[in-house]
Parts: sequence; structure tokens; C-alpha cells
Amino acid sequence: MKRSAALLFSLLFLVSFGMTVSAQANPKIGVCIYKFDDTFMSYVRNQIETAAKGKATLSVQDSQYDQPKQNDQIDQFIVQGMQTLAINMVDPSAVSVLIGKAQKKNLPLVLFNREPVAADMAKYAKAYYVGAKAQESGTMEGDIVADYWKANPSADLNKDGVLQYVMLIGDPSNTDAKFRTEYSIKAVTAAGIKVQKLAEDTAMWDRPKAQEKMAAWLTAYAGKIEVVFANNDDMALGAIEALKAAGFFKGGKYMPVVGVDATPPALDALEQGYLLGTVLNDAKRQGLATWDLAYSLAQGKKAATAVAPLANADGKADPNGKYVWVPYVKVTKANYTQFK
Ligand code: GAL
Ligand code: CA
Repeated sequence: MKRSAALLFSLLFLVSFGMTVSAQANPKIGVCIYKFDDTFMSYVRNQIETAAKGKATLSVQDSQYDQPKQNDQIDQFIVQGMQTLAINMVDPSAVSVLIGKAQKKNLPLVLFNREPVAADMAKYAKAYYVGAKAQESGTMEGDIVADYWKANPSADLNKDGVLQYVMLIGDPSNTDAKFRTEYSIKAVTAAGIKVQKLAEDTAMWDRPKAQEKMAAWLTAYAGKIEVVFANNDDMALGAIEALKAAGFFKGGKYMPVVGVDATPPALDALEQGYLLGTVLNDAKRQGLATWDLAYSLAQGKKAATAVAPLANADGKADPNGKYVWVPYVKVTKANYTQFK
């Protein structure tokens, strides 16, 4: 009896010792992306994969815009013995399910890009979030438009002193989409400009969908649209395609279009004079911060990131915080070369 207990003890010791050693050397980290077919997220994903090379074993899954599928992927990660989960949720309102799964195994959970509400985040001490304050990006988009409007009186096509606009919305369930829609217009009105919304609709962050929407609006509101707001660059580029097809950007026919992300194709469009401005959504730093945090947690270390400070939900730096906020940057013709 005694001997078998001793044997069991040494076995347990070996197993746990072996596990600690492997955890230090090459932790296993499970990563989900809400869908691979999303331009901005593909840059974030590349960054995580590059940073992890030679340091950790990553399993990166495409959740294909399907939350139940993502839940299954997480079950698999748990079976496979992942030490940390880094998850870009499909539907952040479903985070309680994820927290339940992670908590049961005491696994750190690093959420990124799609922000769950603070009340849900507070349910689990080991839940973290890496992202950017969407309000900030909306405000910057609005500021770009306000500056343009004030500098170009001819932008008021019908000379009524009111800015007539259309708004291309991302996934409407996403806080980035909600806040960009709201805060871009708030910034314009805060600059003392009256606005009138001609149309708004979701194009799900997607370039072809936005092109289709914009083409329809150009017919429905011919000659009336004065500014195009898009919640991201892919949709701004879709709108630009529709505008080009309708004869814009030549012979003095112009339309101010703004987006968010500062993706390489958007920076090209800015350089060529099609895109008025965008906002850098820093895929590199968001990817690195997600990786940093997941890696330190997988090694059993305290949450830490060298990329950006840990903060509270309100954004104030806090070494024990649960959030990493990566700042946005306004990008126009004046400074875009810095981001190319
Ligand atoms: C936003 C980004 C969009 C899209 C979305 C996905 O931050 O601007 O282009 O990638 O995240 O959640
Ligand atoms: Ca007008």
C-alpha cells in the first residue's frame, strides 16, 4: 500500500514536472479567428503566427462566422491540452459559454478584436481582452470629414449648408461597427456641421457587398450624396469601385470616402486620390499584444505584454488590468507614407 502510494506520488511528480518543463519550452496555444476571410483579421493572424514561430505550438482555426463551430473548436483545444486560448469571437455576446469552458480547466482566455461587454469580462479573473477603442476610430473618421468639409465649400453640392451622407456599416452586432457609426457622425456635428443621413445599411465589413450597396444608393440618390462613411476600408474600397463605375474620380467629379483599418490596398487608394482618409487599426500591435499575453499566460507567468500596457476597461494603465488597448491613428494624405 505504502509502496504503491510512493510510486503514485513519484509518477505524479514526474508527470507534473514533465508538464512544467514542456510548458516552459514550447507551450500549446489554441487560436480561433472569427473567419479567415476578413482582410483586417488576416493581418492580425499573420502577426500572431509570425511571432509564435519557434516559441510555441499554435493551432489556428477558422471559425467560419459560426459561433457553435467555434465552441466545438474550443472543446477540441481543451482535449488537446492547450495551455492558453486566444479567441477572436464570432459573437461576443456568447462569451459566457467560453468562460465556462475555460474556467472549468482554469485556462487563461485572451479575447481579441471583438469585445465582450465588461460585465461578462468581469466573470472570470483569467479573461483578458486585446483590442482598440472603437469610439476613437469613429471620432477620427469624423474629424477627417469635418476638416475636408470646412476646407472645401464646394463639397456642399446642393448649397443647403447641410452635409448629406451615406453610411456603410460593418457587422451590426459588432461594437466596432456600432461605435464607428455613432462617433463618426458625433465628431462631424461637434465640429458645428449639420448633417442629414440619406441612407445607412450593413455591408458586413465586405468589399463586394459594399460595392453593391453603393451602386444602388448612387441610383436612388443620384447627385445628392456628399460624403461616404464606411466602418472599414474594405467597404470604403467597395464604394470606390461603385463610384468609379458611375464616372467619379475623373473630369472633376469627386466623392469624399472615409474608412478604417489602413490596410495596404486602402493606403494605395489614398495615394491615388480615391480614398480621402482612413484610421490605422494597428493589426501588427494587436497581433503582437495578443501573442505576448497568451504566451506569458501559457507559461504560467503573470499577464504581461511588452507591446502595450495592461489597462482597466476605462483605458487607464494598470499592471493588474484585463485589457490591452492599442491606439488608433488618423491617416490622411499628410502622413500616410509612414504606414506604407
Ligand atoms: C474591425 C475591423 C474590420 C473587421 C472587424 C472584424 O476592427 O476594422 O475590418 O476586421 O474588426 O471584427
Ligand atoms: Ca448639402
